[in-house]
Amino acid sequence: MNIAIIIHSKTGHTLQVGEALRSRLETSGHTVHLEQIRAANESEVKPEAIAMTNFPKTTGFDLLVFGAPVHGGRLSAVMQAYLQQLPSLEGRVMAGFVTEFFPSAGMGGNQAIANMEDLLRAKGGELRSSGVVHWMFRGKREKLISETIEKITALA
Ligand SMILES: Cc1cc2nc3c(=O)[nH]c(=O)nc-3n(C[C@H](O)[C@H](O)[C@H](O)COP(=O)(O)O)c2cc1C
Repeated sequence: MNIAIIIHSKTGHTLQVGEALRSRLETSGHTVHLEQIRAANESEVKPEAIAMTNFPKTTGFDLLVFGAPVHGGRLSAVMQAYLQQLPSLEGRVMAGFVTEFFPSAGMGGNQAIANMEDLLRAKGGELRSSGVVHWMFRGKREKLISETIEKITALA
């Protein structure tokens, strides 16, 4: 499969998970393109005010994976802005994950995945797999990273 991993990462955690996923998928023989969404105003909280400087393309891939951090109990504004601006995603196979600091999905992880699902549904698509990684405790983090990676790899 030709797979795109599209990441927004402010401090590097989400990128680290994306890179581990890329290695896993490449080991299974897939071609993986990992690209970061970039914005000139990363700290902006209103998605409509985000000024994109790198907008990864979604066409030509068999599987799309989106990864982003939780900011203020929601999906990062940069990822929200990116998903809002995508063309139709009808019929696309997609997965998504988020990283958050606190060790409870109630601290924003579930909400962020729900935000991602709503934005993808608005484009005619849906997530086939999703994961929330809590960063605070190393043991739990590594378990959640590994579970998220295996769930997404099962789609490929
Ligand atoms: C502006 C901001 C808001 C955040 N809000 C939350 C939050 O609501 N809940 C949470 O668990 N972590 C929160 N965090 C922590 C990040 O979600 C967490 O460290 C994440 O793994 C960072 O991913 P990144 O390194 O890819 O940017 C916040 C971090 C920032 C910078």
